[in-house]
Amino acid sequence: MNIPHPAAGYQSGFGNEFATEARPGALPPHQNSPQRAPYGLYAEQLSGTAFTAPRAHNRRSWLYRIRPSAMHQPFRQIDNGRVVSRFDQVAAPPNQLRWDPLPMPPTGTDFLDGWVTMAGSGNVESQSGCAIHLYAANRDMENRYFYNADGELLIVPQQGRLRIATELGLVEIEPQQIAVVPRGVRFQVTLPDGEARGYICENFGALLRLPDMGPIGANGLANPRDFLTPRAAFEDREGDFELVAKFAGNLWSARIGHSPLDVVAWHGNYAPYKYDLRHFNAIGSISYDHPDPSIFLVLQAPSDTPGVDTLDFVIFPPRWLAAEDTFRPPWFHRNVASEFMGLIEGQYDAKSEGFRPGGASLHNCMSGHGPDAPTFEKASAGDTTVPHKIANTMAFMFETRDVIRPTTHALASPQLQPDYYQCWQGFKKYYDDGAEQA
Ligand SMILES: [Fe+2]
Repeated sequence: MNIPHPAAGYQSGFGNEFATEARPGALPPHQNSPQRAPYGLYAEQLSGTAFTAPRAHNRRSWLYRIRPSAMHQPFRQIDNGRVVSRFDQVAAPPNQLRWDPLPMPPTGTDFLDGWVTMAGSGNVESQSGCAIHLYAANRDMENRYFYNADGELLIVPQQGRLRIATELGLVEIEPQQIAVVPRGVRFQVTLPDGEARGYICENFGALLRLPDMGPIGANGLANPRDFLTPRAAFEDREGDFELVAKFAGNLWSARIGHSPLDVVAWHGNYAPYKYDLRHFNAIGSISYDHPDPSIFLVLQAPSDTPGVDTLDFVIFPPRWLAAEDTFRPPWFHRNVASEFMGLIEGQYDAKSEGFRPGGASLHNCMSGHGPDAPTFEKASAGDTTVPHKIANTMAFMFETRDVIRPTTHALASPQLQPDYYQCWQGFKKYYDDGAEQA
């Protein structure tokens, strides 16, 4: 295993103005770009928002590095593999869709080679919408680094840990934790468990942020202090390495004679972070009815329309169900938004079977969905005078304002379940026109 990048710990908070150095005095004491930076480092700004973005949303970091990021050979286009960034190649069906987990790939597949794009929306070049990928990998990225100019990456492991060495420090995650790697940040992924599988949402639009809380108040949902950003850590390596870029929907490769993870110190608020989904403070009904799933919102990428997000990351964690006289699982519904779901562990409470950890489902705009027939029968006859714990589960949803268009590959995939619609074929007719009502 190739682990040159040291671990230096984390600093807590969401979008804070962090300041961190891997060598004492490597950060200039107050200036961003002094005439000569300490230790002979180069000063470089990495901007994740427009220079003139409002202060509350302005994100940038100053990096103090051994060599400037511009120092590499020219990029040449390489094969995109199963990575797709245009979503107008095939008609999007209004059917409910569900897939089994991705099988493990052939030996020697690293994190980057292991991406399979399932669906997406919007336009990568105009920075709107998102792409949804599955990944499955069984080899460390060796002598190879990557950055994504097309969007930030929300990585959701389902199996196996990921060790993500980035320019700004080391992020280590396991299933039930997530990581976000900002647009443009260079990184390398190694696999401590030898194999890894999970989901990636590539967010082309506005940066993910914590939602406003409204009447919930100052506390709850994902608390800012549970977000962890790495402390500065770097490698000073020279050799024949590859730098892969995803730019304007295509993959490009350049030779680079040194590790790009050579940032000795940095300060700013544009940086990778991790979050443990088990720390989510779930809030729900203590009287009756099932709230809208927005109550489980972890992160949102807002659009230009107030209250409408281009991307919501929502989870369904372990929780107590206590609502009385209520159909407790998620209800039958149709939605103006489109919903791509994944399952990290356990069982989702609206489906009795068929939705497996590592699998995925897609319910697009106005496609009817909800509990399957066995779930309806069980929940509509259940005792709601006592609370019920949903334990040992973690499901999530990427919800978007745009239709999520499946890729050609996803629709032709052997993992696509042709009989998924059967979930909703077994409902009995209970309607009795002459029934006495209380
Ligand atoms: Fe739904």
